[in-house]
Amino acid sequence: MDAGLLNKRGSSMINIQNLYKRFDKLEVLKGIDLSIEKGKTAVIIGPSGSGKTTLLRCLNLLEIPDQGTIALGKQTLKITESTKLKQAEIVAFRKQTGMVFQGYNLFPHLTALENVMEGQITVLRRSKEAAREKAMSLLEKVGLKDRAEMYPFQLSGGQQQRVGIARAMAMDPEVLLFDEPTSALDPELVGEVLKVMKDLSREGMTMVVVTHEMKFASEAADQVIFMDGGVVVEKGTPNEVINETKNPRTLQFLNKVAER
Ligand SMILES: Nc1ncnc2c1ncn2[C@@H]1O[C@H](COP(=O)(O)OP(=O)(O)O)[C@@H](O)[C@H]1O
Ligand SMILES: [Mg+2]
Repeated sequence: MDAGLLNKRGSSMINIQNLYKRFDKLEVLKGIDLSIEKGKTAVIIGPSGSGKTTLLRCLNLLEIPDQGTIALGKQTLKITESTKLKQAEIVAFRKQTGMVFQGYNLFPHLTALENVMEGQITVLRRSKEAAREKAMSLLEKVGLKDRAEMYPFQLSGGQQQRVGIARAMAMDPEVLLFDEPTSALDPELVGEVLKVMKDLSREGMTMVVVTHEMKFASEAADQVIFMDGGVVVEKGTPNEVINETKNPRTLQFLNKVAER
């Protein structure tokens, strides 16, 4: 099954091969292989410390892997111990991704609208008018058109996170990366964020989502990836990994999540 996925290089938006990352003596990613097709949603699950965030950060080069191949969109990076990436290469690669963080990371001194406009103007060099138009349509899409002029402190956590998603979308990324986007939210606010994510998934956005929301994984994921100890232990359809797994490590993790 895995070999089949890996060989379908033609339709894949993301293809990671043999990815390694260490922090000093701590080996965090120990040979990750993954493939995600265009328009699909992959959900990554796994215990704290298993390397999920590091993997996402390697995907947009917020961390530079030590070794491995990352193909994303039109670009392929082959990294070895001696590779020195140029800043321009990193920026060009990163531009293909949009990241939604656990904390909302909005600029506190900018309104919702200005937060969604900012990167469009500074990074993509769009005109203010074009950036505003795009930002308004995205705020409408995440259900916040009427909150456009509000500052982050005037918005709930769920609303701030939806602004965060609009901001990431505003850059027209090939891929959206989510790192536990609902884990800092009060339970009653989780649903509104997951709904926006589900809509995007359904519309054919390519997404990689680290989350413990198993219902979201079951309903929205095309592929579920279980990581532990810096390796991919298991991957497959939501049903294969969440309902039918026989893997003891996966089972142990799923039981822990279900207890919460
Ligand atoms: N910048 C860093 N420097 C040193 N150690 C790090 C750094 N980032 C992550 N780690 C370590 O790498 C391991 C994996 O972390 P992380 O990728 O955040 O896991 P997860 O997101 O699955 O909880 C942890 O032991 C963590 O402490
Ligand atoms: Mg993490």
